[in-house]
Amino acid sequence: MATAGSVEQEKLAIDGGPKVIDYDLSREWPGLNWVDTEEVNRVLEAVERRHGLIDELPPVLREHFGCKWACGINSGTGALSVSMRALGIGPGMEVLVPGLCWIPTFSCVVANGAIPVLVEVGEDLGMDPSDMERKITPRTRAVIVAHMLGAAANVDPIIEVARRHDLKVVEDCAQDSGGTYKGNFVGLFGDIGAFSLQYNKHATAYIGGFMLSNNEELGLRAELARDAGLARVMHKVTYEPGDLVMWGEGRLLNPLIQAMAAAQIPKLPKIIGAMKRSHQRIRDRIADIPGIRLRPVTDPDSLNGSFMVTYWPDGETAEKATDALRAEGVPQWTHWLAHYGTHVYYQMPMLVQKVGWLEGTKWPWDAPENRGSDYDYGKGALPQSDAIFAKGVVMAVPSNLTDEQCDLLATAYSKVAHHLIA
Ligand SMILES: Cc1ncc(COP(=O)(O)O)c(C=O)c1O
Repeated sequence: MATAGSVEQEKLAIDGGPKVIDYDLSREWPGLNWVDTEEVNRVLEAVERRHGLIDELPPVLREHFGCKWACGINSGTGALSVSMRALGIGPGMEVLVPGLCWIPTFSCVVANGAIPVLVEVGEDLGMDPSDMERKITPRTRAVIVAHMLGAAANVDPIIEVARRHDLKVVEDCAQDSGGTYKGNFVGLFGDIGAFSLQYNKHATAYIGGFMLSNNEELGLRAELARDAGLARVMHKVTYEPGDLVMWGEGRLLNPLIQAMAAAQIPKLPKIIGAMKRSHQRIRDRIADIPGIRLRPVTDPDSLNGSFMVTYWPDGETAEKATDALRAEGVPQWTHWLAHYGTHVYYQMPMLVQKVGWLEGTKWPWDAPENRGSDYDYGKGALPQSDAIFAKGVVMAVPSNLTDEQCDLLATAYSKVAHHLIA
């Protein structure tokens, strides 16, 4: 059997050499890899109940996360949009958004008539608190913190800046459900946590989302906004004079999806535990490879294991390393960070072009209330982040890897580094 040392000397697979992993690894679908009869039975029970709207998920969420308020919602995108509505974000306001997140992290701001303002990320790939403070203007009302690519953002200084400037905080936890920062669940540091249950998330029900908060008043506003703008009691929307009333978005979470999610949420510690173990094993084996740096984070325990982020000496090497790693058989979900799809601000065409939410306009950018909030969103708007993205390579870590597979992945890194880094 070849040792790691001898494998490194072999020709790279991208140049016609043998692959380190010559079979398909399991898919990078954390929650789906853990689906069993529990999810199936719970969904069947929900079907057989022959009942209207049963909100099965909120008590499960409240118990798991230990929070005062929780609700299901049709998607992570919906959770972000409803968060903005609940906080009263609208025209004439600015919301700080990190340069690494996803389209909905921006669209929720735009849809509500406010202007998103780009903030740099650091090497931890979370919002840079110093740049966040620099970007605050008299119009800034809120900040959206995104916990991206397998780790929490550095929450403490972000919350400190936000509180000092009286800003509301929404946490985009789509990629970090069940993740922690300094021992506490992400999603409950700010005012509202927005989560996704989409098929490649830690806990999934194929498509769906949920929201958490310790502020019940805000929770009520979110409940109305995600429904018909009125309270719903026993399956019926109700209104008593004096009740809070608003326009609703019809984003309830299907009870069958709630049933599947209710089975997945308690599995989060197991799912994350498995990813963390694999991530740590690979990390330990690649930590000393000359020329590769591991992503630095404030709280190492906040690494939830779902992604391995490495930094290479320069952009050219990082791009080549991505292609070479893929050729060696690492999970297909491996990307050069600079090209990490529409998660990188300059790759969101609707943002860069300031496409109007209302057709034929540039709304909200051309709204009179937003005059003076003129921002550029093209590549170069965040030079620090651009430089970080250029050197980064991100690999998804499937939630059911064996130790042997982890070791093979580490070998793929050391083989590629051996060839590409002088
Ligand atoms: C960072 C981030 N925010 C928001 C979302 C939106 O979640 P959903 O797909 O459930 O709408 C995603 C989904 O992939 C995401 O990665």
